[in-house]
Amino acid sequence: MKVLVIGGGGREHALAWRVSQSPRVSRVFVAPGNAGTAEDAENVEILSSDFAGLIQFARQNNVGLTVVGPEAPLATGLVDAFQREGLRVFGPNKAAAQLEASKVFCRDLLRNADVPGADYRTFRNADDAIRYLNEREDSPIVVKADGLAAGKGVVVCTNRQDALDAVNQIARQKVFGPAGDRLLIEERLGGEEASVLAITDGRTIVTLQPAQDHKPAYDGDTGPNTGGMGAYCPTPLIDDERLHWIEEHVLVPTVHAMKRAGRPFYGVLYAGMMITNQGPRVLEFNVRFGDPECQPLLMRLKTDLVDLLEAAVDQRLDEIESLVWDTRPAVCVVMASKGYPGAYETGFPIRGLEEAAKIPGVKVFHAGTALKDGKVISAGGRVLNVTALGDSIPKAKLQAYTAVKAIRWDGAWCRKDISDKAIRHASRAGM
Ligand code: AMP
Ligand code: GLY
Repeated sequence: MKVLVIGGGGREHALAWRVSQSPRVSRVFVAPGNAGTAEDAENVEILSSDFAGLIQFARQNNVGLTVVGPEAPLATGLVDAFQREGLRVFGPNKAAAQLEASKVFCRDLLRNADVPGADYRTFRNADDAIRYLNEREDSPIVVKADGLAAGKGVVVCTNRQDALDAVNQIARQKVFGPAGDRLLIEERLGGEEASVLAITDGRTIVTLQPAQDHKPAYDGDTGPNTGGMGAYCPTPLIDDERLHWIEEHVLVPTVHAMKRAGRPFYGVLYAGMMITNQGPRVLEFNVRFGDPECQPLLMRLKTDLVDLLEAAVDQRLDEIESLVWDTRPAVCVVMASKGYPGAYETGFPIRGLEEAAKIPGVKVFHAGTALKDGKVISAGGRVLNVTALGDSIPKAKLQAYTAVKAIRWDGAWCRKDISDKAIRHASRAGM
């Protein structure tokens, strides 16, 4: 079978790499891909917004399964377009992708389904939101644009003035465009975050092992929010008992509520959780694999990924046996361009990739890279996702950072503390 992966980041490199290892797969295409996917699969120069081009390619090349990586094409109906053509595709349709594409839709659904979240209010204009902020007590709060804003539409505020500024930017200046047509103001939850991902066909839910992302740019969780500077899996923050609790109180009621809302959900259901003193609470849902969480997850997944994704597409996930995981944990360190998550330059030649690849247990997934005259150059903010397996989290971390040291380009940097939260947590728990 031929498989098409849509997207061009580290998540899509990991998906293409894992899919290509399936004995049932003859060719893997990635549209548009990057320098790394060009090595492990075949790149196709079609953007994920060009639905007609992608459909034509899938037809002409007899693609048996298409896997959609990023949220934007899901939210704009790529899956609907493929299904109308009778093409097999993994991911939620446009109506179901609202779970990520509208934070108001998500919060209302969770409230109706009694899923633990945060107290919130929604607003259609800046004046009402400002009046509300001025009337309530001055306590920590989170202001969110309703729509997709590349992970930047969430402002965590410590006081009223920060919140007023955020409302002004989102709803008056429209810095995120129409994503700011509606606003959410939420109670600010405290605790540690974890990502719980599951694959569902709308009836059966197969939960993956829990992972933890590192969203702030700098060490010690300081600095501006990013798409994620590193991840590891599994996380000791979520033991089996807590994972079952999240399945029962979060994943199952959400899948049921989506069905009741006439938007049956198929694909990856990704619950961004805050583990508070009162228990786990949903921060939000995503409708696709997390990036970078996907990279350590797929390093560890031994079950044939194609079998799993196909079972979800064909609505027979109940037939899939328990997933098999490498018992070793995996740690993924994101190497970024100087200036990211602000403005950055690209086009720098990257050296040391072959040397890094020789380090045992290491796989370097490419995120923002391109090929120029046969050489790999930087082409984005998050450039490489250096991922390693190890017998313990500290050992996986050491392998990943040993590989990071072998790689060089002008302005390359990374966080130095990826996975330290796990190590701290494990030592507190006496593990
Ligand atoms: P998102 O990119 O939409 O997943 O959200 C970005 C980040 O904002 C989350 O990972 C949290 O760190 C933070 N966040 C979102 N909602 C809340 C909340 N209610 N309380 C505290 N932090 C939040
Ligand atoms: N790593 C966070 C996300 O994929 O949204």
